[in-house]
Amino acid sequence: MSLLSIRDLTVSFRGPRGWTPVIDRVSFDVEAGSVVGLVGESGSGKTVTALSALGLTRTQGARVNGQVLFDGEDLTAMSEKELSTRRGRSIGMIFQQAIRTLDPAFTVGEQIAEAVRRHEGLSRSAAWARAVEMLDRVHIPRAAERAKEYPHTFSGGMCQRAMIAMALACSPRLVFADEPTTALDVTVQSRILALLREIQRETGVAIVFISHDLGVIAELAQRVVVMYAGQVVERATVEDLFLRPRHPYTAGLLGSIPAVGRGRRLVSIPGVVPPPGGMPVGCRFHPRCAHEQAGLCDATAPELELGDAARCLRTGELDLRGITLDPVGGVR
Ligand SMILES: Nc1ncnc2c1ncn2[C@@H]1O[C@H](COP(=O)(O)OP(=O)(O)OP(=O)(O)O)[C@@H](O)[C@H]1O
Ligand SMILES: [Mg+2]
Repeated sequence: MSLLSIRDLTVSFRGPRGWTPVIDRVSFDVEAGSVVGLVGESGSGKTVTALSALGLTRTQGARVNGQVLFDGEDLTAMSEKELSTRRGRSIGMIFQQAIRTLDPAFTVGEQIAEAVRRHEGLSRSAAWARAVEMLDRVHIPRAAERAKEYPHTFSGGMCQRAMIAMALACSPRLVFADEPTTALDVTVQSRILALLREIQRETGVAIVFISHDLGVIAELAQRVVVMYAGQVVERATVEDLFLRPRHPYTAGLLGSIPAVGRGRRLVSIPGVVPPPGGMPVGCRFHPRCAHEQAGLCDATAPELELGDAARCLRTGELDLRGITLDPVGGVR
């Protein structure tokens, strides 16, 4: 049994013209101790998937269907109270803008200590000691002193480290990390990725790592789930996905990975992700696809099997171009 099994997760929001599905029958698994990358362009539904898996879109008025099995228990069937004991304790969360997630009114140490006290019932002093230990663990210099400071005195990278410390303070088994490095500059970004990789190896925590950048995903994940227009379009191991993409959208994402010194012009996929409520008939990607076949792709909606698969009617006959992964997991 997988640590996390998402099955047919469908989320709709109420708009001016009634309920509109924003994500459609999303299914994937996360094995204990593994890192799964969730990738797709802006608006493809990555954040809604993560928030809904944690029960955080219900409070925004979303209609959620399908199952989210964590350790065999369906999170979608749980009360808010049951869910909130899972969140923070068994399942951690790291978001893009740490500075907005941290409370400006409390010191960084207090916030981590409070989370530990709430979930583990530790004494004030034991919780504080854990907070300092966690800040030290994410390589915040002079952790004991920095713990007493407020978030605004932390740089962007330090805030992100503090968020990681908070997410991991109760030793969760799974962490959702939603674009945790996107707002940071490139050097800080690679240090945070290195930190996440180190902590993942040390603690064995499973991570769902969300990014629009496959290059970043390759540095951390073993498996990849590709999303487009609210649907999963491909699932594969990192190696297979890079060498032999099976969906034209994945091939397009690979072609647009920015790589310093690769000597190749950046090619991005023409067009944009269609909005929810404005989905094309047939394959949702066909209007942007270089391999679209008239009469087929604009008429029939492809399905996706469980396991490693691609949501493409022509996948068997296409020879899509992949790229080579270098031994440390970066891209060439
Ligand atoms: N609360 C909401 N109400 C209505 N629509 C929403 C809501 N949240 C998200 N959406 C819509 O759902 C779609 C998917 O959004 P989502 O934020 O999951 O994309 P994403 O893949 O995380 O993109 P990004 O890379 O920009 O973070 C978008 O069209 C978005 O406008
Ligand atoms: Mg997002």
